[in-house]
Amino acid sequence: MEKPTKRILSGVQPSGDLHLGNYLGAIKNFVSLQKEYECFFCVVDLHAITVWQDPKVLANKTREVTAAFIASGIDPKKNNIFVQSQVPQHAQLGWLFNCVARMGWLNRMTQFKDKAGKNSENVSVGLFSYPTLMAADILIYLATHVPVGDDQKQHLELTRDIAQKFNNDFKTDFFPIPEPLILGEATRVMSLRDGSKKMSKSDPSDYSRIMLTDTAENITQKIKKAKTDPEPLPQDKTGLEKRPEAENLISIFASLQDTSIESVIKDYAGKEFSTFKKDLADLSVSKLEPITSEMNKLMSDVSYIDSILNQGKENAIAVAEPVLQKTKEIIGFLS
Ligand code: TYM
Repeated sequence: MEKPTKRILSGVQPSGDLHLGNYLGAIKNFVSLQKEYECFFCVVDLHAITVWQDPKVLANKTREVTAAFIASGIDPKKNNIFVQSQVPQHAQLGWLFNCVARMGWLNRMTQFKDKAGKNSENVSVGLFSYPTLMAADILIYLATHVPVGDDQKQHLELTRDIAQKFNNDFKTDFFPIPEPLILGEATRVMSLRDGSKKMSKSDPSDYSRIMLTDTAENITQKIKKAKTDPEPLPQDKTGLEKRPEAENLISIFASLQDTSIESVIKDYAGKEFSTFKKDLADLSVSKLEPITSEMNKLMSDVSYIDSILNQGKENAIAVAEPVLQKTKEIIGFLS
């Protein structure tokens, strides 16, 4: 079997409205990487159902993530965009990896601890074994690179451990050890209400995040209300220490404008946050509004989105099935 040298797999959950963290930490990077890599972009609905999802809205959320990929600039003709549950090889390899990963490894996952909180006896088994399925998503394509936000780093280390252990146990070099690609100035976008918390779909406050479905008015309002400290913008990067809210807004600006944090600070050194926020709101609207309106347009033609996903499914299965067969052969299953 021919091994790829530059193949990307990444996934986004259809578990709620996409926010600026998803865009800057992941999707925006997918757009630039598509030129250089063969790409598989997956809407990970099997991961979404590790917590409750309303069956009446799940299908549309799945299409919405697809629309966001395309509206952001991913070319659906050149890349494979597909739905995880439509490619059964993911779940099959996920089971095999459940038998490779160790309980101790999964017990150390901070995302599980955060999500389960004090409720760990009552969350789904799927939430616990979530990272083994993620490893399967990546390795079923023998992907070499995985662009993600900073919060997925630990899951990718686990993926590498699983690939390594499988290879060692079965004395093979079949699975690649994939590299994370954590790129840009906004790898961890924080809540607009609290600079110590990640921007996330599950935050109860709508004002904590900017959604890709927000109107220009919403965006401006949310940035205006974003928490800051009373100091003006610093003279250099060291002046951002212990100022998480300031640091967050400046890195969002840098990422949206495709420039560095240093260069934003240079432009705004000593200025008040009220001035900076006005420019940040204008910049956000100018970058996000075209995406939102394209998403809305795409969402009005469900059959087009479904045709993209259908083609993506076929392409994905054509790559995934031989990898699953080879894995089963290595394990010693009857063919
Ligand atoms: P999900 O759906 O939570 O997030 C999708 C992508 O967005 C990134 N992200 C962020 N980046 C910066 N700042 C934030 N506040 C922020 N919030 C989210 C995430 O890092 C991610 O890249 N487990 C994955 C989905 C997944 C996956 C995979 C990813 C399943 N299988 C295989 C890569 C490869 C997740 O929860 O994504």
